[in-house]
Amino acid sequence: MGNCFPKPVTNHSSTNNSSNQVFGSDEKKKEPTIENRPPMAAKVGGDGGGTAAASRPETVPPSGRIVTPNLKMFTFSELRSATRNFRPDTMLGEGGFGRVFKGWVDGETYAPSKVGVGIAVAVKKSNPDSAQGLKEWQAEVKFLGKFSHPNLVKLVGYCWEDREFLLVYEYMQKGSLENHLFKKCTEPLSWSTRIKIATGAAQGLAFLHNTEKTVIYRDFKSSNILLDGDYNAKLSDFGLAKLGPANGESHVSTGVVGTYGYAAPEYIATGHLYVKSDVYGFGVVLLEMITGLRVLDTNRPSSQHNLVEWAKPQLHDKRKLRKLIDPRLEQDYPSKGAGKASELILGCLEADPKNRPSMEEILTSLEQISAIKTKPKESKVKQNQASGPHRDRRYQSAHQSPLHKKQGREGRADQRSPIRSY
Ligand SMILES: Nc1ncnc2c1ncn2[C@@H]1O[C@H](COP(=O)(O)OP(=O)(O)OP(=O)(O)O)[C@@H](O)[C@H]1O
Ligand SMILES: [Mg+2]
Repeated sequence: MGNCFPKPVTNHSSTNNSSNQVFGSDEKKKEPTIENRPPMAAKVGGDGGGTAAASRPETVPPSGRIVTPNLKMFTFSELRSATRNFRPDTMLGEGGFGRVFKGWVDGETYAPSKVGVGIAVAVKKSNPDSAQGLKEWQAEVKFLGKFSHPNLVKLVGYCWEDREFLLVYEYMQKGSLENHLFKKCTEPLSWSTRIKIATGAAQGLAFLHNTEKTVIYRDFKSSNILLDGDYNAKLSDFGLAKLGPANGESHVSTGVVGTYGYAAPEYIATGHLYVKSDVYGFGVVLLEMITGLRVLDTNRPSSQHNLVEWAKPQLHDKRKLRKLIDPRLEQDYPSKGAGKASELILGCLEADPKNRPSMEEILTSLEQISAIKTKPKESKVKQNQASGPHRDRRYQSAHQSPLHKKQGREGRADQRSPIRSY
């Protein structure tokens, strides 16, 4: 199992509302595929006719339906039953949108079923009365409901009822890449599994970039890469996805939303969003994957808080690179492959988006990297000498304590600052 969550807390932490999941606020107003409608049953409140673009919690309509084929519309009571009343021990994790629970439904009818019967699903339940949550929920359904690709997590259905927005996804057995990279209770990923995951995630992004109307994902990060039982990667969370430029334009201008550390600098600075802004995020995740270090971590010495700034100059240097590579790999990786991966990372992190590779070029590089095998003598060498940031167990212990979740979310607090920039 990929997940290793601590016991859930009973009170909602104030850091977990959707407004600080990401920074910024998008300009998105109304999704055409969403229709407001009267509440499905006797509902709390009588303000059911508000707009989908409600900017304050009290104007969020309590219920709604989506005109998207192939998506099952669940009732709240069905999802409550599928998750055994959202029982804390079914909780898979928690993000800015809300908590995610594991549930069981019939494989054909999607009616709630007993544990272990039918198929497992992941039910994402928004924090109530979150206008930002509603916007993201709508974008998620709009984009993900339409797409089907082996590297995009499947959206099974949704529920919008009684001020509750829920999304029902296929259950991803191994959880998120973030858990595997940064949580000690998970098995370390081998080099070849890391490259396989990077390739799957790159295929998902390449698909989005090349779909009929280019889609910019905008929230590429390790927590949004989910893994099935065979470590196939699938992208999740389309709440921030955005149609790309049309008519030969290079970018779209938009409010700045995203996650600190992963968002491209030109986008943060100007609000100009390029397809290649996603490529920057890909470079950041690849850097996290080879180093096993979070992009932002205030538990590291201050010069190392930002992994990109700190590691970038070292990626050119073979010797320094060796110290940077995740010690959980126990030296079992091809140094030539690591060298190529760091070149690829540097390309993705180029300041000018024009100089970054396309997702197709990235896929070609990953194919080459995957073909480079570890030489027998390389895998035998084990570095026992303490060196590099990984050797200071303070960084790891921050993510291992029983308060891990708290610590983890604090570690991510930098990324999820409520600071908004327009
Ligand atoms: N389909 C799924 N199958 C299994 N686990 C899932 C699924 N979706 C989410 N999870 C688990 O729930 C956790 C929380 O997911 P969620 O997307 O809500 O938050 P996040 O990605 O950590 O942060 P953010 O809100 O910024 O996206 C994930 O990290 C993952 O471990
Ligand atoms: Mg997510």
